[in-house]
Amino acid sequence: MCGIVGYIGEKEALPILIQGLRRLEYRGYDSAGVALFSDGKIRRARSVGKIDALAEKIGEEKFLGTLGIAHTRWATHGKVTEENAHPHADCTGKFALVHNGIIENYREIKRELGSSHVFSSETDSEILVHLIESFYKEDLKDAVLRALRHVRGTYGLVIIHADHPKELVVARMGSPLAIGLDNGDYFIASDATPILPYTKRVMYLDDGEVAEIKDGELRVSNLRDEAVNKKVEEIEWNEAQAEKQGFSHFMLKEIFDQPTVFEDAIRGRVYLEEGTAHLGGLNMTEEEMRKISKVIFVACGTASYVGLMGKYMFERLAGIPTEVEIASEFRYRDPVIDEHTLVFAISQSGETADTLAAVREAKRRGAKARGIINVVGSTIAREVDGGTYIHAGPELAVASTKAYTNMVAVVLLYALQFGRLRSLSLATGQRTVKALLEIPRKMEEILKKSDEIRLIAEKYKAHKDFLYLGRGINVGVALEGAMKLKEISYIHAEGLPAGEMKHGTNALLSSEFPVFAIMTDNQLYDKVRSNVEEVRARGSKVVLVANEGDAFAEKLGDDVIFIPKTMEMLEPLLNTIPLQLFAYHMAVILGRDVDRPRNLAKSVTVE
Ligand code: F6R
Repeated sequence: MCGIVGYIGEKEALPILIQGLRRLEYRGYDSAGVALFSDGKIRRARSVGKIDALAEKIGEEKFLGTLGIAHTRWATHGKVTEENAHPHADCTGKFALVHNGIIENYREIKRELGSSHVFSSETDSEILVHLIESFYKEDLKDAVLRALRHVRGTYGLVIIHADHPKELVVARMGSPLAIGLDNGDYFIASDATPILPYTKRVMYLDDGEVAEIKDGELRVSNLRDEAVNKKVEEIEWNEAQAEKQGFSHFMLKEIFDQPTVFEDAIRGRVYLEEGTAHLGGLNMTEEEMRKISKVIFVACGTASYVGLMGKYMFERLAGIPTEVEIASEFRYRDPVIDEHTLVFAISQSGETADTLAAVREAKRRGAKARGIINVVGSTIAREVDGGTYIHAGPELAVASTKAYTNMVAVVLLYALQFGRLRSLSLATGQRTVKALLEIPRKMEEILKKSDEIRLIAEKYKAHKDFLYLGRGINVGVALEGAMKLKEISYIHAEGLPAGEMKHGTNALLSSEFPVFAIMTDNQLYDKVRSNVEEVRARGSKVVLVANEGDAFAEKLGDDVIFIPKTMEMLEPLLNTIPLQLFAYHMAVILGRDVDRPRNLAKSVTVE
């Protein structure tokens, strides 16, 4: 999603802004731009395409100055053009503004501004800078505050003005913004990644807050201009954690990170003797936990497939009726919720707009809302009344891998904790914890098969469609396998419960339509096996994920990836890894932009 960078201080702003934009590239974008206060005026440069194109455009001109803003745009209103790229200027050319979010009443505002304003783009963001211009009477922050009182929608914005070379104003409503502080230097960004090389001291703005940085001082207020006291936090992630560490892509590095980050997710949270887990951040008494009568997972995309697995885990281990809701649907339904409903929001970024809206809706209806989140200090993490960080570290590839795995781990720990408080036996609890502790070693074994999986991908590279099948807890794995393949290799793929094939999808089967099936050794093994036989009988090639020593799989599959066995509820932790590797290698073979696939964003902060 669009990225914002800003800087005010003693240093040259341009290199900080350009480097900041590069560090936000993982969010996805289609154009970029900068504006600096330089030689007594605001100078802007914008360009369609990559940051390199923008840097080239600025070239020798070298915008010198210590105040500036920059932006990567991902088109919402208006086409991908230079005119639509940010920063936007007002009629006088003295203001420059970068904006993330959507101004819902921009048409109304444009009408009210009338013909005295000249607009040069099709964006809602440009309307905003003209609105601010219309309220401006020498006080920059005052003009911003007045304008924002007329705005409906979401924004994260940074604005500068040529008559205020020592001032920058930042505001947030629904679009995240962080401010890094370092001895009078201030770094603004949509998330902490661009700030990390300079400082670890960060302040996160909340909705309805405006920060004015003027003459080296930072002051935060609400929209009524009343001062707000803010906390400065220390970020834990270091820069090295965000590097590729020798892997050719972030995605591959993140796939290989999984055994280590999985250990981080469970460390100090599982108890072998008691056969349970304890996640301290839940903020609920045991009595309240026992009274929970329904669990709902709200999430989007990959995180929603984790919710699907969570349904199996919670119903099997804890006996609690559980639902999974795509967050963008949940917010517009009339979910039946009361104070004994526990709503878990699952999100890597903690900024997904639909998931955040679902959390707010759940809270409004009286449910207990808790988070299963990766990014520390993110909006959802701060809005829920408790929950757990999954400790996957920064995930920079757009396609989620290690965060997915750690989400599965934490959901499982919760199911175990609730289960042991209810009727789950000590023996099953202990078996589960023991099996969890064996997972990292088994993951390592699967990762050793990366080259073998690359050869399989090579064999299937000409195919245009893929089907992924699973049953039980592996339905979610099949959906995730299909998601990984389509998002990074652009091959059409579908995930289905294997038993559903005969109700329609069988009609697609032919030698042109290969099928990936998860056929690991669990209570549904025989069912999956007969589904795979049906698929074979219709001419499709079959790639199987099966457990080591399965002689039947050897005969049945055209290709088989053998992996170690684990308990059924833990299978997603292992079974997904071959599918991640298959998608990764396929995307590389097809020459795709693996870490930054087209049309996708890492952090989806608009509805
Ligand atoms: C796919 C992927 C997305 C995200 C989804 C939710 O690989 O990463 O489907 O899972 O956009 O994002 P978060 O988890 O940040 O809420």
